Amino acid sequence: MGLTSTWRYGRGRGLGTVTMVSWGRFVCLVVVTMATSSLARPSNLVKDTTLEPEGAPYWTNTEKMEKRLHAVPAANTVKFRCPAGGHPTPTMRWLKNGKEFKQEHRIGGYKVRNQHWSLIMESVVPSDKGNYTCVVENDYGSINHTYHLDVVERSPHRPILQAGLPANASTVVGGDVEFVCKVYSDAQPHIQWIKHVEKNGSKYGPDGLPYLKVLKVRTFWI
Ligand SMILES: *[C@@H]1O[C@H](CO)[C@@H](O)[C@H](O)[C@H]1NC(C)=O
Ligand SMILES: *[C@@H]1O[C@H](CO)[C@@H](O)[C@H](O)[C@H]1NC(C)=O
Ligand SMILES: *[C@@H]1O[C@H](CO)[C@@H](O)[C@H](O)[C@H]1NC(C)=O
Ligand SMILES: *[C@@H]1O[C@H](CO)[C@@H](O)[C@H](O)[C@H]1NC(C)=O
Repeated sequence: MGLTSTWRYGRGRGLGTVTMVSWGRFVCLVVVTMATSSLARPSNLVKDTTLEPEGAPYWTNTEKMEKRLHAVPAANTVKFRCPAGGHPTPTMRWLKNGKEFKQEHRIGGYKVRNQHWSLIMESVVPSDKGNYTCVVENDYGSINHTYHLDVVERSPHRPILQAGLPANASTVVGGDVEFVCKVYSDAQPHIQWIKHVEKNGSKYGPDGLPYLKVLKVRTFWI
């Protein structure tokens, strides 16, 4: 996943009190705990249903259902989809490990978007691991599809910053300037824009550490 964080500076953004833009070095610091990337193993497609009796439910987008194993980092949002058609329009229900999936089975419950044929679980935790089955049915038939959810703990992988960013920029006094930082990360990174500042004409304190000022903090929620 790619992320962009931008820090803008200038009168155009309503920072009217700024009268002088000082030169300085800007650093995009990204602190993140990372997760392993998803393991997607293509599995058998659901069976072609074109020969089913007229009106029976059928899958309308089997490509979206190919990835059965979803390995996601803890705290992420998970969405399973079972797009279907049929006449009359089929209903959809979800099972977890073969049993009716009830809202009270997980903290925060879950959402079902019937028009998108989706099940959404926010901020997954290890106890959400398991098999999730959609059952799509109408008077003429019933079809189902099972997804396997694995919730992986975060691991301390560093995020990847796009080389060359943020790039040097110059502007006239009173002008705007924009710095861009691109971050590749599976989990939600915590991004800070930090400016190196001088105090008493020195960039470093008595402890040898640079003087820094946090300009912007952003956390991405996927
Ligand atoms: C989920 O399904 C797989 C494959 O059918 C099975 O091996 C596994 O035991 C199931 N897990 C649970 C928690 O029911
Ligand atoms: C899912 O479909 C299979 C094959 O048609 C069927 O054997 C099974 O009983 C169905 N499961 C549910 C929960 O409807
Ligand atoms: C950006 O500016 C700094 C300070 O002037 C300089 O040291 C650095 O080489 C510049 N980087 C690039 C890519 O031009
Ligand atoms: C700056 O220098 C003055 C005089 O040397 C000193 O009193 C003050 O504490 C210094 N301030 C900082 C932030 O180092």
